[in-house]
Amino acid sequence: MAKVKKFAVLTSGGDSPAMNAAVYGFASSAIQKGIEVYGVIDGYKGLVAGNYRKIDLRDFKKTIFSAGTDIGSSRCFEFKEPKVRQAAVDLFKKNGFDGLFVIGGDGSYMGASLISEIGCPVVTAPGTIDNDVSSSKYTIGYFSALEEIFQAVKKIKATSESHSQVTFVEVMGRHCHDLSVSASVAGAVDYIVTNSSRKNEQELASIIKDMIEAGKKGIVILVTEKVYGIEYGFELPSLKDLCSFLERTVGRQVRYNVLGYTQRGAIPISWDLYVAQRFGIKAFQAAYDGKWGNAICFDGYDFGLVSLKKAVSMPKDVSNKMIDFVNSSYKI
Ligand code: ADP
Ligand code: F6P
Repeated sequence: MAKVKKFAVLTSGGDSPAMNAAVYGFASSAIQKGIEVYGVIDGYKGLVAGNYRKIDLRDFKKTIFSAGTDIGSSRCFEFKEPKVRQAAVDLFKKNGFDGLFVIGGDGSYMGASLISEIGCPVVTAPGTIDNDVSSSKYTIGYFSALEEIFQAVKKIKATSESHSQVTFVEVMGRHCHDLSVSASVAGAVDYIVTNSSRKNEQELASIIKDMIEAGKKGIVILVTEKVYGIEYGFELPSLKDLCSFLERTVGRQVRYNVLGYTQRGAIPISWDLYVAQRFGIKAFQAAYDGKWGNAICFDGYDFGLVSLKKAVSMPKDVSNKMIDFVNSSYKI
């Protein structure tokens, strides 16, 4: 009797909303073709330890609307060691797996590309709120996190306006400003500071004074994480110190709000649920056709394939156009 094919799927790095839907899209397509699907527990950690769980589709379907990733994720630092990766791939094959679907961000892509080079049959899809996977215009979970930020910004704008307060809102994204920029435009904030538009204390004081002079009450300034704080290397103070300085300088109450993990743990919105399942379905099709060593990409309209090797060496498209748009109207 022919051996039943077995595929595995793992979610890696920072979890993102709708990762469950991507797993479901893949597993559902595979099971319909008589292929068994296993979830690797906690990302590359589970691959190293040989820790898997068979996906029961009816059960797994119940996780689709939930935030987080049901099969778990992790930062597996030891995966950066070639010996560890080789052992993980050997174990994977010894366990009778025919292919692996990796869902994660740019770091996870790097891991996937490296195991692909040593003969692990792998396909990937971009799952991260950061939208920092260069080979795909959009990543799974990005829009859900954006919605979470947008809802928070609207609330912060309301209370800032009531109190004539200046409020800084710190948004995630690691080294990518996409979440900040989109949230700033959607939320019509007063000013945005990202890695590519950094401002020091004095510059901000002068901008805020201009806004006050122009008659503004509440002022909301959105900043990308990893800009303020001496540990980031730009000689800029922490948000706490920045606010104390500004409060003394501009004569208004100045506060900050770090949105943090509420963004990553957002409930997936319908668009992400749709797109994530399409990513999963496309990944299965590539795996079924034996097109290993590829990453699934999405341009907002169509899904395609790009070689993993190319995917991990592509530069990320960075545009400052929307930052200029928001900041050029800061007195309005
Ligand atoms: P993300 O995938 O969301 O960008 P990380 O950058 O933390 O998150 O990467 C997730 C995991 O991918 C890491 O914990 C590690 O196991 C693996 N990884 C990241 N970079 C590399 C690398 N250069 N070589 C091998 N594995 C890597
Ligand atoms: O990659 C997703 C993300 O939420 C980034 O936006 C953020 O910088 C990072 O993960 C924080 O993760 P951790 O708390 O695990 O360092």
